[in-house]
Amino acid sequence: MCGIVGYIGTQQAAPLIVSGLKRLEYRGYDSAGVCIISDSGARIEKKAGRVADLEKYVDISSMTGTVGVGHTRWATHGVPNDVNAHPHTDQSGSIALVHNGIIENYLTIKKKLLNAGYTFRSETDSEVLAVFIGMLYETLQDMELAVRTALSEVEGTFGLVVLSTHEPDMIIAARRGSPLILGIGNGEYLVASDAAAVISHTRQVVYLNENEMAILRRDGFSTKTIENVDTRSVVEEISFELEQIEKGGFEHFMLKEIFEQPTTFHDGFRGRLQIDAGTVKLGGLASVADKLRAAKRIIITACGTSWHAGLVGEYLIEHLARVPVEVEYASEFRYRNPIIHSDDIVIAISQSGETADTLAAIREAKLKGATVIGMVNVVGSTIARETDAGVYLHAGPEIGVASTKAFTSQLCVLTQFALYLGRMRSLSSEQGREVALGLANIPAQIRSILDRSEEIRSIALEYANVSNFLYLGRGYNFPAALEGALKLKEISYIHAEGYPAAEMKHGPIALIDAELPVVFIAPKDEIYDKILSNIEEVRARSGKVIVIADEDDTHIHTVANHVIRVPRTLPMLAPILASIPLQLLAYYIAVERGCNVDMPRNLAKSVTVE
Ligand code: AGP
Ligand code: GLU
Repeated sequence: MCGIVGYIGTQQAAPLIVSGLKRLEYRGYDSAGVCIISDSGARIEKKAGRVADLEKYVDISSMTGTVGVGHTRWATHGVPNDVNAHPHTDQSGSIALVHNGIIENYLTIKKKLLNAGYTFRSETDSEVLAVFIGMLYETLQDMELAVRTALSEVEGTFGLVVLSTHEPDMIIAARRGSPLILGIGNGEYLVASDAAAVISHTRQVVYLNENEMAILRRDGFSTKTIENVDTRSVVEEISFELEQIEKGGFEHFMLKEIFEQPTTFHDGFRGRLQIDAGTVKLGGLASVADKLRAAKRIIITACGTSWHAGLVGEYLIEHLARVPVEVEYASEFRYRNPIIHSDDIVIAISQSGETADTLAAIREAKLKGATVIGMVNVVGSTIARETDAGVYLHAGPEIGVASTKAFTSQLCVLTQFALYLGRMRSLSSEQGREVALGLANIPAQIRSILDRSEEIRSIALEYANVSNFLYLGRGYNFPAALEGALKLKEISYIHAEGYPAAEMKHGPIALIDAELPVVFIAPKDEIYDKILSNIEEVRARSGKVIVIADEDDTHIHTVANHVIRVPRTLPMLAPILASIPLQLLAYYIAVERGCNVDMPRNLAKSVTVE
């Protein structure tokens, strides 16, 4: 969570930082703040709310100076208000700090500082660190040493940028657990939480490693560990284009990303799928192919939407490769001392590649000797770098907080992984070809669903004012139901539950009345008749039935209030197609309710805290 942008160079820093913050706003939007260091000292302006609120409150161009830092917050400690907004300063006001993460032992440090007579303005853990660095500076008289000393006592996670009027031509950045990258320009340097904030200035970046810090000066930069051992930094090129992080004429990023799916899905299998051989080439897994062949068990770990993709992955892998799969919430997995064997394969699925719980889960799995594979979207992200091998999703930057295209790309990659593993085992080339062909047809099928988005919108308008929604699916479509419900609650704040359809009668059926819309995912597969019975159970209690059904289903309209038709595909690929109308339904309902779909309340795109 939280966006950080720092700048040192020849240009005016404040406008540049503010435009970078806007690109990072999806990471946190509780408050925004900027600090500029100039001859007249450190000027800090901060405000609760969005970056635009800060701009209304202060004339950014009046903040002159060529060194500075900005922050958008996703509050963990203290309510989102002006005082808790970052940057925070030390007691003297000459050291300013922005922080992403949580200082877990902040109360212990705060107590010590209070006893020594220091005072605090905010409720944040971050201010404690700023004041602590200030106290250390009083005796050490060296900013870098003061930061390093403070960090050696800190427990928790940080992506940190510190500026000071004591040493005004220097920015100190440090990371443990929260991502930071350096942008290497021509006579100018940036530091940011992700590449989106630097791409309009430079494509050359350095990803800071865990426990690494960087010292940026006007004439160069250096990196070292927090323990002061010099490190070698590798300059890499940003892998996406500026247009990819812009709205491109769509009203919201989320809508743009939904409509990008024919392309992003195709990018997920382009150059990988070998239709004639009924197999797939996954270069990123070559180094662990023997381990995969010998694997006795696969554990998939992830959070949120990525966890839903993992559930589909379980069905896919067990079906195509006949290897037992377990799917675990990363947050549970990391703390329950899981039993892991050296011939286990652990797959971490993550759009951002920075999710703290998923990262901790893979570290736990590695410690216990498993081979860890990443299915990650963001190139160069921490999970991508810490896994033994991996397959990128290639969905391009996803900015909307509610994940859409990354989900379908995860399913694209998981299907290919299952196929790859299956072909190493008992799956025939004929069976493989059927799956490969099915995948290859998906982009056009997604396009045909998107062409009918207006129909989905009109259904959405009818249900925009309800308070609850139920989503039901069976088999492969049970995770799709969970994901449909998550999408709706995230962006519309309507309470929504996803269930395996047959489970309805064990409890959720009590909710059904004439007010409750129930969304069924009911393709004509082998359990179609069963789901028809579930539909009847809802109808018998006057519930409103919305069904996602096959294009050629001639019966379904007789039992449904609304039918959303999708093209026929293999049962294992049905959740991919079903997720498109579910995304659109959630989107149009949320827009109708006047919600901010790209930045839903309380959420942030990348959850880098526990
Ligand atoms: C998706 O709509 C969510 N906002 C959220 O559940 C997300 O999927 C989860 O936080 C995991 O993120 P990751 O894929 O970046 O690891
Ligand atoms: N823990 C800090 C706070 O609550 C930083 C949060 C963030 O990452 O934005 O202010």
